[in-house]
Amino acid sequence: NDTLGIALIGCGTVGGGVARVLLAHADRVTQRAGRPLELRRVVVRDPSKSRDPLIPLDIISTDIHAAINDPGVHVVVELIGGTGLAKRVVLDALAAGKHVVTANKALLADAGAEVFEAARRADRTVCFEAAVAGGVPVIRALGESLAANQVTAIQAILNGTSNFILTAMAEGGKSYADALAEAQKLGYAEADPTLDVDGSDAAHKLAILAQIAFGVAAKPHEIARQGIDTIEAIDIRFANELGYTIKLLAEAWTGGHSHSGNGAKLSRSGAVPAEPTVALHVAPVLLRHTDLLAQVRGAYNAVLVYGDVVGETLYQGPGAGQMPTASSVVADLIDLGVGRAQRTFAAAKLWGREDRGFTVEPP
Ligand code: NDP
Ligand code: HSE
Repeated sequence: NDTLGIALIGCGTVGGGVARVLLAHADRVTQRAGRPLELRRVVVRDPSKSRDPLIPLDIISTDIHAAINDPGVHVVVELIGGTGLAKRVVLDALAAGKHVVTANKALLADAGAEVFEAARRADRTVCFEAAVAGGVPVIRALGESLAANQVTAIQAILNGTSNFILTAMAEGGKSYADALAEAQKLGYAEADPTLDVDGSDAAHKLAILAQIAFGVAAKPHEIARQGIDTIEAIDIRFANELGYTIKLLAEAWTGGHSHSGNGAKLSRSGAVPAEPTVALHVAPVLLRHTDLLAQVRGAYNAVLVYGDVVGETLYQGPGAGQMPTASSVVADLIDLGVGRAQRTFAAAKLWGREDRGFTVEPP
């Protein structure tokens, strides 16, 4: 029996989307994975909540331990969120010899080194395409497609909720509070939306990208962060009148310049930086209306990557929400089924261990 058994731990916004894709598109998923992917267990906090009718009721429980230790389960999908119970689930799953798929950027930014050390010990794979930019395959792009390059800079919109709020305030004249409430209703925001609006979520994602692009394990205090929570409608209006759009940007600049103007010149030249340092920061910035990143609207994300061989590349698409995020989680599951994910995420096993010569500049 070559079926790949799956335990879904957490079946809220993202988990619900993953279950729907696995069950509604079982034929497609089986064909792409070259073997059946069976949703064997779904673990939630409150089993009495109504769920997708495609999920058989008898596979829903609150028993995390039983799900992880089910011998028919080969992959544990962690979609609870946070850094407490979620970390336990991931470490226990690896210790039980299961592969892990997660969308949890807070966990990876906080405890990536520990998680990947456990994965090395267990000789299992941790897949996390959904953890950065939702449905946009930027982890694969950075880790695989741009493998010939040394990345010299990254400029990105990485928080869908903040971008949704800024767009709604600028274009729909919505208040900050109404726009945030709508982002929560649409399933874009974190359980604690402070993480979205104070720049923390974008910083978590930037830390993951920096790990892949530069091999640095950035500590939270090494990423200067400011969110959109202090921006008022009047700031957006004045910016607009002057020909600018306000965007929450997450940036990584190499070359020994923490000031993005200098970094921009040096890094965009395509030269490998003279000083192997990387400056990481998250902040609202003014972009000209004509700038590529100024065009990114709603809960979309965009990631501009500068490579010393390729030049400038742009990855863009839905960065939050149920089905876009499920798209990335299921891609990881299909790749585990094929046996491809083990290669795609192989470099991540060096997380916290690798030294490519880069150090993080103090903010
Ligand atoms: P939700 O809050 O919608 O879902 C969380 C799920 O976890 C729920 O099913 C909940 O159960 C379950 N859960 C919570 N506590 C426990 C517990 N103690 N035991 C068992 N189950 C528990 O979160 P999201 O789906 O939005 O997010 C999940 C992860 O995906 C997070 O790490 C988030 O950062 C990440 N992510 C989210 C995106 C989005 O757009 N929403 C996009 C990219 C990543 P119950 O249903 O019973 O309440
Ligand atoms: N809360 C996150 C966001 C979800 O708004 O971008 C996607 O990671």
